[in-house]
Amino acid sequence: MNVHHYIACDLRSNDPRWLRGASSYWKSRMKKPLHQFASVGWMVCVGMLLATSSRVVALDNGLALTPPMGWNSWNKFGCNVSEDLIKSAADAMVSTGMKDAGYRYVIIDDCWQVSRDSAGNIVADPKRFPSGIKALADYVHAKGLKFGIYSCAGTNTCAGRPGSRGHESQDAIQYAAWGVDYLKYDWCNHGNESARVAYGTMRDALKQAGRPMVFSICEWGTSKPWLWAGNVGNLWRTTGDIHDCWDCKEQYWTGWTRILDQQNGLESFAGPGHWNDPDMLEVGNGGMSTTEYKSHFTLWCILAAPLIAGNDLRNMPLEIKDILTNRELIAIDQDTLGKQGRRLRKNEHQEIWVKPLKDGSRAVALLNRGTSEEKITVAWEELGYPDGLSISVRDLWAKNNLGKFIGRFSASVPSHGVVAVKVSP
Ligand code: GLA
Repeated sequence: MNVHHYIACDLRSNDPRWLRGASSYWKSRMKKPLHQFASVGWMVCVGMLLATSSRVVALDNGLALTPPMGWNSWNKFGCNVSEDLIKSAADAMVSTGMKDAGYRYVIIDDCWQVSRDSAGNIVADPKRFPSGIKALADYVHAKGLKFGIYSCAGTNTCAGRPGSRGHESQDAIQYAAWGVDYLKYDWCNHGNESARVAYGTMRDALKQAGRPMVFSICEWGTSKPWLWAGNVGNLWRTTGDIHDCWDCKEQYWTGWTRILDQQNGLESFAGPGHWNDPDMLEVGNGGMSTTEYKSHFTLWCILAAPLIAGNDLRNMPLEIKDILTNRELIAIDQDTLGKQGRRLRKNEHQEIWVKPLKDGSRAVALLNRGTSEEKITVAWEELGYPDGLSISVRDLWAKNNLGKFIGRFSASVPSHGVVAVKVSP
């Protein structure tokens, strides 16, 4: 095992918006919460930590051996969740073919919870979830799907609902009794606690509760979880929140290309059971063109990212469904070698990303970030193949074999578009 020393930096915020929980800030935003890049907040590095590399032992819950696939309510619906919404999302996951394409987890994000009872048990919103969470989990399970839920390591969630701080075991036991299969665990209102400790506490509580649950760490990359979370969670967010745009930027969220830039270099930390999470998909939420959504989806597959759809599955135009259910791209994401792809080259607007696959072939994405069509060329030598080799190339969007190529492959790539190929010697 390779052991490296790293400086681990932790993030704390003195921003009163955090301390107030459901702040006026939150109320004004409804969908997107306050969090990590708060105006005052960066604290000094906490010191030298001993961290292991990608060869850390993965969390031993046997789950997420390939990146988890599913749907989450947050990107499209924010706090507007209810049992009817979740049930109809589960129905649509089956009827649209998403389930057949590999999507499994139906996850309620923030705002399902309203209070704790006198015994400290978490209480679901009785108006929005009148049948209770257990009945909802049963409904989802009856469709052959898995059920996920959200909580937060702080006293309150990012939307100001009760968090799990101090109630970790109680909540884990409750989730297990409800039949929860996946927990997304957020990081608002965490006070002075270290992420490593807080997430370790919930990992242990889940283990103790006895029902295997995918553990999704959502601390936005602030303490570099890729350095320590390999045996804590099955996936960890690497950045702030995604937004449904090409490259916009706000204080708390950014467009997907900015998130993409932050993934390069993290590839050695991902593998079966422990994945980098560049956040949920925005495909189909209306802020980008079909071409841009194809690029977003392709790059998430090259990254071996969790594929958690975030759109309204009940009203999907055909072209959006075709993106989310592209089985050839999904197979790249789910390849059992479990290697996250990396950026091979970047010049001007052109980028080449490559992901090694179990059968010895490579998935290659030619991405054009410029404003007009460009020809992009990848040479076999860059991919680690001999120059003179005749190599088969398959187009993963056109879904056809392009033939054999010697030395290199070139394609015209539209503005903000991608050409995705599988290259098999
Ligand atoms: C944070 C997370 C989001 C979402 C919201 C819910 O911002 O990063 O993905 O869960 O909280 O409030």
